[in-house]
Amino acid sequence: MKLITQVTLADFSQYITMTKEVDKQKSIPVTRPFLPPIEDYQEYLQQIWDRAWLTNNGPVLLQLEAELKTYLKLQHLAVVSNGTVAIQIAIRALNIRGKVITTPFTYIATSSSIVWEHCQPVFCDICADDFNIDPDKIEDLIDADTTAIIATHVFGAPCAVDRIHEIASRYDLKVIYDAAHAFDVTYGGKSLLGYGDLSTISFHATKTFNTVEGGAVIGNNPELMEQLRYLRNFGHHGPYVFERVGINGKMSELHAAMGLCNLKYIDTVIDERKRRKHLYLQLLDTSKVTLQRVPQEVENSTYMPVLLKDEKTLKEVEHILANNHYGTRRYFYPPLHQLPFLTDEKTQLSVTEDISSRILCLPLYSDLEIDHIEKISKLVNHNA
Ligand SMILES: Cc1ncc(COP(=O)(O)O)c(C=O)c1O
Repeated sequence: MKLITQVTLADFSQYITMTKEVDKQKSIPVTRPFLPPIEDYQEYLQQIWDRAWLTNNGPVLLQLEAELKTYLKLQHLAVVSNGTVAIQIAIRALNIRGKVITTPFTYIATSSSIVWEHCQPVFCDICADDFNIDPDKIEDLIDADTTAIIATHVFGAPCAVDRIHEIASRYDLKVIYDAAHAFDVTYGGKSLLGYGDLSTISFHATKTFNTVEGGAVIGNNPELMEQLRYLRNFGHHGPYVFERVGINGKMSELHAAMGLCNLKYIDTVIDERKRRKHLYLQLLDTSKVTLQRVPQEVENSTYMPVLLKDEKTLKEVEHILANNHYGTRRYFYPPLHQLPFLTDEKTQLSVTEDISSRILCLPLYSDLEIDHIEKISKLVNHNA
């Protein structure tokens, strides 16, 4: 299968200038999906129309899976309908039951998927510097009913994968990483998606790589990956044989086509996001805001989180940015251990509560104009 040729930075800049003309007047959102030139998509649409093959393991889906594996240098990857179904299917494939130790500082989909699969989330506090599950606090939470750890590489910063692997091996626990924010992250010489028993990712419109809605499960065990393929397709093994209970987690040909179009531009999208993140990191005054700690070798460019000194300052900064037409999001607030339908315990997790009360994500996307980053950074520095 031929890998689509990548576009150059010059092509990309010209295209972005064209699309920008349309919405110069609008306010700046916290994120903005990348859209390929519409002609690229129309080409795929024509092929899909000609074949009249819209879903069910079609050729566009197969091509997307093959190209993603090549691009990410991964052995196995099963594309599904979204990043939430990816987590649910991963929990099923690993036969996880009982208690799951997890992070409360993530998007709700990580925790709600655990409850949806009739497991009990046991929330573990996070580290104050990288905002990921604290490996020093996992062991105290393990009991006879614990079967798994589900952790998120939050904002694309790698969890303590070696420590977590060591703990999981000692207690015979499964590990799933929610790597929804980590499409472009490499760690230890390989894609961050290659860690854990399984990793999951979201290809939602807001993510670095998008298929509008979509996601994938990644793993290293071929038999497990085969089970995943049954799980995402009603348990079908051929037309009349059903291997097990499954769900409809298939991605359509139209979504897969969007993925192939976007993959053609992904290197440039990632470079442009990184360039903007570097600029923020240069311009933000670290005596006023604290930045997420990431290992030196890691570049993560899906989000631009800043930690303010307290919630009052956060609200002031949020307000001033809004008055200047800049969108922000309190990722992740509220902390999930405080949601009564996710846990019935009065758990107190002081680090999570503190971080969640004063973290704010600033606008970051591949065609965000540099002037805006300068203005946003000034406003933050001045008001933090
Ligand atoms: C950490 C995390 N996990 C899971 C999801 C859910 O992915 P999807 O929207 O593709 O279902 C998201 C966000 O969308 C997320 O940020």
